[in-house]
Amino acid sequence: MAKTNVLFAASECVPFIKTGGLADVAGSLPKYFDRRKYDVRVILPKYECLKGLDKAELQEVTRFVTGFNFREQVVILEEAVLNGIHFYFIGNDFYFSGAWPYTDMRDDIEKFAFFSKMVLSVLPQLSWKPDILHCHDWQTGLIPVYLNDSFQGDLFFHHMKTVFTIHNLKFQGTYDIKTVMEKTGLSSYYFTPDKLEAWSNGNLLKGGLVYSDRITTVSETYAKEIMTPFYGEGLDGLLRAEQNKLSGIVNGIDTDFYNPKTDPDIPVRFSVSNAIEKKAENKKLLQKKLGLSEDPDAMMIGIVSRLTDQKGFDLVECVMNEICNQKVQLVVLGTGTSRYENLFRYFASLYPDRVSAQIFYSEPLSHEIYAACDAFLMPSLFEPCGLSQLMSLRYGTLPIVRETGGLKDTVEPFNEFTKTGTGFSFANYNAHEMLSVIRYAVSVYQERRDDWNEMVIRAMEKDFSWKASARKYQAIYDELMADKKREETPADI
Ligand code: ADP
Ligand code: GLC
Repeated sequence: MAKTNVLFAASECVPFIKTGGLADVAGSLPKYFDRRKYDVRVILPKYECLKGLDKAELQEVTRFVTGFNFREQVVILEEAVLNGIHFYFIGNDFYFSGAWPYTDMRDDIEKFAFFSKMVLSVLPQLSWKPDILHCHDWQTGLIPVYLNDSFQGDLFFHHMKTVFTIHNLKFQGTYDIKTVMEKTGLSSYYFTPDKLEAWSNGNLLKGGLVYSDRITTVSETYAKEIMTPFYGEGLDGLLRAEQNKLSGIVNGIDTDFYNPKTDPDIPVRFSVSNAIEKKAENKKLLQKKLGLSEDPDAMMIGIVSRLTDQKGFDLVECVMNEICNQKVQLVVLGTGTSRYENLFRYFASLYPDRVSAQIFYSEPLSHEIYAACDAFLMPSLFEPCGLSQLMSLRYGTLPIVRETGGLKDTVEPFNEFTKTGTGFSFANYNAHEMLSVIRYAVSVYQERRDDWNEMVIRAMEKDFSWKASARKYQAIYDELMADKKREETPADI
């Protein structure tokens, strides 16, 4: 039987480039499909700042000159196979140079319009043809739009299906219509409220929502939330209207890469059978490394995050003194808005024995934190899925979260009567509600250590691999393939 061919298009993907969870998803999910039936490949820009290319042997597939936005551009398409997955890289010096994948919105709209158009342009030159284009976030929102536009003249593209996954509805790729028209080359036909116009602006994410065959997002709760005004970021009306093509599929993590038994980045490896002692050793080593007091009884709370409003740090700011005045330590690894970077720097200077602020990006240190901490704080205002809490659970670090999006779907709150649960949670976006749950977690840690330790084991035993979710994506692909087949078969007259 012929395989279903799926091409993921994304602006970031591990192990090559990562600024957030999107990269983890784009790089790890393709490995978990049933390879006898699905051939899932990935295409991304070949930014100058890509890493890890030494692990992959790049082969040039094609190069050509094309026009985009009144300039001539040289495009080089390369391919590499890593862990059995094919990756395609679209190279172009004009758009993809620089130390970071993103610049400012005006330039990024043009950059990703170019990327989206090139994804379609290179397809006829591959020896492999996708049945389904699976687009991720606003940067690839124009792929379904261009597919519907200039590419429809070519039979090659007929009946090609599209899926659009929302990883974060907050980021939509919007600018005034005149600029978006100029940057994308799309005609005024597309800039009406039923297409790419949203609240008088041009909106690339909206293009993806309107023109794709199916929409998914990264947890069931977030799929429901985004149909409400509070979480809908101005697009809740559209999402309600399109709900028959919308579904929520929770993210997983790469359980080979995030594996406390084999992780080369953690000093003391562990499994369920020895987690309690070995986590304590990791904690002692991290305390020493970061200059915190070497106190085994202080509950160590980790934060590994973009330091932005989304992640709920205004709640932390509000009660930071109260948090620090308990028997806890706080280890923060993150970068973001200076307000939060400085908040944590300030408290680290105030309480050097208790607070450590590591204001940079480090994959290895993030693993050390997941392994060493007792608890992990993620009080997000909204959270489409969240991967950090899954990584924490995998390393037996109990999340303290707000009940929103994927946090609600993946962290089961501790119930002291039934002795169930894998973490702690609170419902309202309220600093004192968060504080009381932190205090409760501290009391369980300090006074009922057996309950805590049992929870550590339950957390580690949960299955957060991609297996179940990959099956749900496969079901969507199967439905689209059935539609495709129907369209390709001429109806009996
Ligand atoms: P988001 O994608 O909204 O940032 P997720 O929880 O889905 O949130 O994913 C965040 C990912 O980025 C996790 O893999 C987390 O470990 C990682 N991460 C965030 N900040 C840092 C940092 N400063 N250093 C290392 N890893 C980080
Ligand atoms: C986004 C979301 C995060 C999600 C990630 C991967 O960055 O903020 O919640 O886990 O995408 O889907």
